[in-house]
Amino acid sequence: MDFFSYRNGQLFCEDVSVADIAAEVGTPVYIYSSATLLHHYRALAESFAELSPMICFSIKSLANLQILKLLAEAGSGFDVVSGGEVARARAIGADCARIVYAGVGKTDKEIREAIAAGIGLFNVESEAEFENISRLAGEAGKAVRCALRLNPDVYDPRTHTYTATGKKETKFGVDIERAVAFFGAYGHDDHARLDAIHLHIGSPIYSAQPYVEAITKTLDLMGRLAGEGFTVRTLDIGGGFAADYDAGASPLASEYAKEIVPLLRGRGLEVILEPGRQIAANAGLLLTQVQYVKAGGQKSFLIVDAAMTDLIRPAMYGSEHFVWPARLSDPSAEPQRRIDFAAPAGQKVDVVGGVCESTDFLAQDRTLPVMGRGDLLAVFSAGAYGFVMSSQYNSRPRAAEILVEGAKWRVIRPRETYEDLFATEVPSLLTKAIGFPADNSKD
Ligand code: LLP
Repeated sequence: MDFFSYRNGQLFCEDVSVADIAAEVGTPVYIYSSATLLHHYRALAESFAELSPMICFSIKSLANLQILKLLAEAGSGFDVVSGGEVARARAIGADCARIVYAGVGKTDKEIREAIAAGIGLFNVESEAEFENISRLAGEAGKAVRCALRLNPDVYDPRTHTYTATGKKETKFGVDIERAVAFFGAYGHDDHARLDAIHLHIGSPIYSAQPYVEAITKTLDLMGRLAGEGFTVRTLDIGGGFAADYDAGASPLASEYAKEIVPLLRGRGLEVILEPGRQIAANAGLLLTQVQYVKAGGQKSFLIVDAAMTDLIRPAMYGSEHFVWPARLSDPSAEPQRRIDFAAPAGQKVDVVGGVCESTDFLAQDRTLPVMGRGDLLAVFSAGAYGFVMSSQYNSRPRAAEILVEGAKWRVIRPRETYEDLFATEVPSLLTKAIGFPADNSKD
């Protein structure tokens, strides 16, 4: 569900025509709908309300400070995975007690900073990491809270193997068989209080069933832990709630909640959710402009000014995003947002970028209305894992980001300039080339 729609043949984000944005800031550009972000945040909050969960938006999915601010104001905490994400949360004045910190490779520097900031919960992924956090908390003279990230050995076959995290043979978490020993070894630690369990089984998870399986296993484990004298106060069930890449393909927040809430009600557990994609994916699109149309063998290519550097999901996971022109030549011919939706009298094309890689495609074998140079094409459901995974490969400045609120819109990240590409590189080279102030390093 989202607030992007066609009005008289023009694509609008809420009450703003996307073509108007492109006319001012150019393309490629990410356009986000604040109403869509808030709709999905609230749908989760309301659906799980009976458990009064702490909802921690997963910063890795969409990290722009203005988006984080919007969600914090709506009541969200944050799920982070790096020192940089902690810094982003702090930059918007987020309450650090409402931040949960996952990741298998937290460095000493990151852990020290997170301890000093007063992070609410460290989601610990290994025995060695727990010992390190305890040591660093002791050095800082502080006590921190930890959750054991459990690897429940659960798998949704529709989740790409690159984003499945709940199987045993992944680097994430600790096997259920080791969990009792883990609590036995560390459950009485003075500096790192271990009284919580964290799950994150993958992304996206297209039904409630894998959560039910993982939570059921976890409740069973909690029973065993109780028998050993360990009380688990908090259960963080992670993220993974799906989004509509095809219209209506994802379960609603209420459909996940219908299966999950009954398992957890009345247990006195503090519940945490870490959604990213379900809040952000449908809230953003990538708008790009056709540069050239060309043929290659049996294929036709729409060559656009966005590329894998702007949206790497198709190249990396074979992900499919719905793409369609921002202007309809026949205003009554609105598309259905389905990957296999074909324009009547359309043309079968691959949508590709200008990067020197054959994996540089945004969509393949789509039957789109006939398009030409200068036309705008929208890549839908690109709000999550879109801009955040973009790069400057081929020395391409990254796209601008725009936030729409009703009839208003503003730039929340300007398009990068060529200077941005090398602003942080060895100053002495810049001195020679364009007269930057000299530094003291040797040639
Ligand atoms: N919590 C943890 C510990 C995570 O690792 C993730 C995502 C989330 C929460 C949020 O998951 P979500 O609700 O967004 O599904 N780049 C991939 C997705 C990678 C997900 C990584 N972890 C993609 O473009 O599909």
